[in-house]
Amino acid sequence: MATVELKKLRKANHPLARAIRSLTPMSTFFREFVKHPAMIGSVIPSSPALVRATLAPVDWSSARLFVEYGPGVGTFTRPVLEMLRPDAMLLSIDTNRDFVRYLNADIADVRFRAVHGSAADVRKIIAEHGFTEADYILSGLPFSTLPSGVGELIAAETEAALRPGGAFLVYQYSNYMRKILYPCFARVEQGFEWLNIPPCRIFWSYKEEALAKAA
Ligand SMILES: C[S@@+](CC[C@H](N)C(=O)[O-])C[C@H]1O[C@@H](n2cnc3c(N)ncnc32)[C@H](O)[C@@H]1O
Repeated sequence: MATVELKKLRKANHPLARAIRSLTPMSTFFREFVKHPAMIGSVIPSSPALVRATLAPVDWSSARLFVEYGPGVGTFTRPVLEMLRPDAMLLSIDTNRDFVRYLNADIADVRFRAVHGSAADVRKIIAEHGFTEADYILSGLPFSTLPSGVGELIAAETEAALRPGGAFLVYQYSNYMRKILYPCFARVEQGFEWLNIPPCRIFWSYKEEALAKAA
């Protein structure tokens, strides 16, 4: 179908345009999984139930900079933008150029930018966008299949990039995350979401000041 016709259908919110739209993220995700299985780490995107549970503790009124690692086709990205303040920003960092291109083309929102890069460079990336610290950092990274040492480096860089009291939100299929998060964060809370393929662990890790405030 010609691009111009598809754009017209999209504008009119035509059922055909909606059907094509829902197929595109799935097929993009699957194609990238076939190309880079270890980097993608999962054959299908996260479920709406996992998205809801992972984001449940976020205080949206205080979030000015929200960072996302490994957005893929934007399963979390769109719900985050729905909740984010009008004057806040979402930076989504992915090592996969095709996902970054897809997200920047598909999401027209002045509060959003997909950045090609590694989560290990989070401090440099947020500085390049005019920020000194993030309120929340969300991770969809496949930590257990990352090269040796990279997970530990990303956890340390994340803690350094968060504001005092800020939180690192991680969903992960294995318990591997515990040994990476515990040395970096003073408080780590855990949850579990059955309604996902496969069922998934959730870790909410808080930077120091939250403890002092809560005490
Ligand atoms: C399992 S997918 C998550 C997709 C999506 N967030 C979801 O929940 O459906 C993992 C993503 O992490 C990205 N990734 C892997 N290593 C990365 C790194 N070091 N920095 C940033 N993104 C990375 C992959 O390219 C992929 O998009």
